[in-house]
Amino acid sequence: MGEIIHILGFAGSLRKESFNRSALRAAVTLIPQGARLDTFELDAIPPFNEDHEHEPPQAVRAFKTAVKAADAILIVTPEYNYSVPGVLKNAIDWASRPYGDSAWDGKPVGVLGASVGTLGTARAQYHLRQMFVFLNMFPLNQPEVMIAQAAEKFDHEGNLKDQITTQKIRELLETLTEWTKSLQKSKTLG
Ligand code: FNR
Repeated sequence: MGEIIHILGFAGSLRKESFNRSALRAAVTLIPQGARLDTFELDAIPPFNEDHEHEPPQAVRAFKTAVKAADAILIVTPEYNYSVPGVLKNAIDWASRPYGDSAWDGKPVGVLGASVGTLGTARAQYHLRQMFVFLNMFPLNQPEVMIAQAAEKFDHEGNLKDQITTQKIRELLETLTEWTKSLQKSKTLG
């Protein structure tokens, strides 16, 4: 058995009954053997201020440390106005700074998202993927997990009840784990 792949997951919603937080909780239960999924809550991350990027607040330091320590990242994004929520962009911006000390550089990343609309965060996910170009992250292309009409996919306690979505998240985590291993291997060989 090889080493455990350590994935850090976070959701871009602060809402208590967030579908995206629920999807992240579901992902924790669906993690394959050989991987571990730890989660980070973004509630305590303040608005980004470049004046403080060299000495960021404690919550930001904790977030950056967790990102740096992870082998791979899992982002669970809502869609706000056809893009990613400010809360998520804000956290990404903090951890990308100061210039030359980005926590994201070279990280494999998987994306999923839930919305009450019919496109299941597709537009937000593609905006995220654009950010990965500048951040030099290595996104997993497929499977794409876009949870549309989320209210029908979770029960009132926030448990994922939809079998197809459950299977998609399981596949995403398995593929992200394999993708991370193959990137690590090519780094060692290179
Ligand atoms: C939304 N919502 C939304 N849904 C969508 O499919 N496309 C969109 O562009 C938007 N835009 C949007 C903007 C703002 C400001 C809010 C608050 C909401 C609805 C969104 O999918 C719904 O509120 C989800 O429940 C948000 O995710 P969480 O909080 O449940 O994880």
